[in-house]
Amino acid sequence: MAHKNAITLVVANLTICCFFSLLCSEEARGGPHLERNSAIARLKRMEASIKAVQSGRTETQLGGAVAPLIRLPTTHVVNIGIGTPPRNFRGKVDTGSDLIWFQCDPFNGSRRYTLPMFYPEDSSTYRPVPCSSSLCSALGNSTCALDCQYSHIYSGSWSTQGELSFETFTMADTSGAAHSFGGIAFGCSHIVQGDGLEEANGVVGLGRGQLSLISQIGESKFSYCLSFEYNGSPFHDIDRFSTPLLLGSAAELNGIGVQSTMVINNTVLPKLNSYYYFSVEGITLGNVSLNIPRGTFDIQSNGSGGFIIDSGTHYTVLPHAAFTAVASVLDSVLGLPRSNDSKAGLSVCYSSPYYDYIPDVNMTFHMLGADYIVEGKHNFVQYTESGPTKIGNLLCLAMLDMDEASVAGVPAVLGSFQQQDYHILYDNAKQRLSFTPTRCRSLYMSSYLQSKAPIPILGCHFLLPLLLLYFVAFSLTV
Ligand SMILES: *[C@@H]1O[C@H](CO)[C@@H](O)[C@H](O)[C@H]1NC(C)=O
Ligand SMILES: *[C@@H]1O[C@H](CO)[C@@H](O)[C@H](O)[C@H]1NC(C)=O
Ligand SMILES: *[C@@H]1O[C@H](CO)[C@@H](O)[C@H](O)[C@H]1NC(C)=O
Ligand SMILES: *[C@@H]1O[C@H](CO)[C@@H](O)[C@H](O)[C@H]1NC(C)=O
Ligand SMILES: *[C@@H]1O[C@H](CO)[C@@H](O)[C@H](O)[C@H]1NC(C)=O
Ligand SMILES: *[C@@H]1O[C@H](CO)[C@@H](O)[C@H](O)[C@H]1NC(C)=O
Ligand SMILES: *[C@@H]1O[C@H](CO)[C@@H](O)[C@H](O)[C@H]1NC(C)=O
Repeated sequence: MAHKNAITLVVANLTICCFFSLLCSEEARGGPHLERNSAIARLKRMEASIKAVQSGRTETQLGGAVAPLIRLPTTHVVNIGIGTPPRNFRGKVDTGSDLIWFQCDPFNGSRRYTLPMFYPEDSSTYRPVPCSSSLCSALGNSTCALDCQYSHIYSGSWSTQGELSFETFTMADTSGAAHSFGGIAFGCSHIVQGDGLEEANGVVGLGRGQLSLISQIGESKFSYCLSFEYNGSPFHDIDRFSTPLLLGSAAELNGIGVQSTMVINNTVLPKLNSYYYFSVEGITLGNVSLNIPRGTFDIQSNGSGGFIIDSGTHYTVLPHAAFTAVASVLDSVLGLPRSNDSKAGLSVCYSSPYYDYIPDVNMTFHMLGADYIVEGKHNFVQYTESGPTKIGNLLCLAMLDMDEASVAGVPAVLGSFQQQDYHILYDNAKQRLSFTPTRCRSLYMSSYLQSKAPIPILGCHFLLPLLLLYFVAFSLTV
């Protein structure tokens, strides 16, 4: 009996210890300690820069920039500070366009969401881009009467209008310190029409053109890992659970398992070279090589077609011939009945008798020099059907048919859904896309910044020895 009591106490004490140590580690990584740690880090940097000035040295070059990427239900947004003083805004990360824009006061658009607005009058660094600026001409469709007005239409028939302006953007450097980039041209957007942006304040273009964020900060490469796990809820600590958008020299991808393919040019329609085009030679589904006509994914002789990677498109879009080939092979591989219930515009759906079943069917895109494998969980979306007659799941192919989307001549798109859990590097200097399958969790901002610049954690760990002492003393008295 006494023996049993002792064990109970030991277990109870261990539980208390574990609980406290968990509490400590949680608290130490976030909350007030983070503020304190960043204040310490800031002081240390100030000290370093004062010393550098005193000794006549210049400060070390910026090692690139880092901004948190947040996964929302249908999009990935990047958190960036804009204006002076900086305020944070969420821009949809779009590698399929160049223009950066945010909703701006006065605003006339369908504002179904209560996200903050950019107020030019609240910032001391806001100024219009003059008509004579090459950035204004780079818009392609600007009208310049008073200042540089733009109108940008996205595929999917939504658009934005406003004036191109200069502003200071604030991101972090790799040590986590705030770094400001002055004179970034962005669209102060007064009108947004159509559906396409429900969860962001604007769009951050990362295309290959002059107006994109990457071009404007004078860097040639960036990388990201789009997480499969939602982290946009207010219950999450954004800094801890977001993955980094790495810009400039911070973006590196080396080692075993990294594959690369060339980014190619559209020589017929060079205006479309904001897109990251690459070559796709074929697709394998499971172990079946799809019967798709040769050249289906090539840029056509009139400049249409081709295959691009785009973080701003949710589901992968395939030309009709390729889409039907995928669907017909899936019919036989899955052996499930097709359902004519279509969800979220996904036209190929199956009635599945299982509750939680995502088929382990890989799809391999054979790119020039690389095989890009999309695992089953990133090829399907499941919808649970309940009710007296409908029990089970609706399993839909997470891809769109270009013909059904009633678009013609546009490129095929590797969408963000199929990019999840890949670390992808876009290198404009080398004209190369590199990627490797990665559990994006391993790249969370917190672990990334801490591994780059270890900040001493002085949380409540001093309690641990005390607890241990208490535990030993208590065990001895039993
Ligand atoms: C807002 O836009 C609508 C059309 O989209 C237009 O009818 C209306 O006049 C605009 N309001 C202002 C204040 O510009
Ligand atoms: C250019 O802007 C005008 C309105 O300002 C618009 O009607 C036209 O469709 C735009 N063209 C393109 C290619 O975006
Ligand atoms: C693509 O176009 C860019 C800009 O015009 C040029 O610098 C580059 O060499 C071209 N790449 C290839 C592979 O032709
Ligand atoms: C493909 O896989 C199926 C089972 O998954 C198997 O029966 C078939 O033999 C395989 N075909 C080839 C060509 O390997
Ligand atoms: C398909 O939809 C029609 C109505 O739109 C319905 O009558 C029919 O039963 C459905 N078929 C299946 C297999 O669910
Ligand atoms: C799918 O691909 C993953 C990653 O390459 C691999 O681990 C897995 O075995 C593949 N599944 C099938 C059924 O081939
Ligand atoms: C280019 O040709 C294709 C057919 O090969 C056609 O569908 C498309 O509309 C054409 N695009 C342009 C811009 O002419």
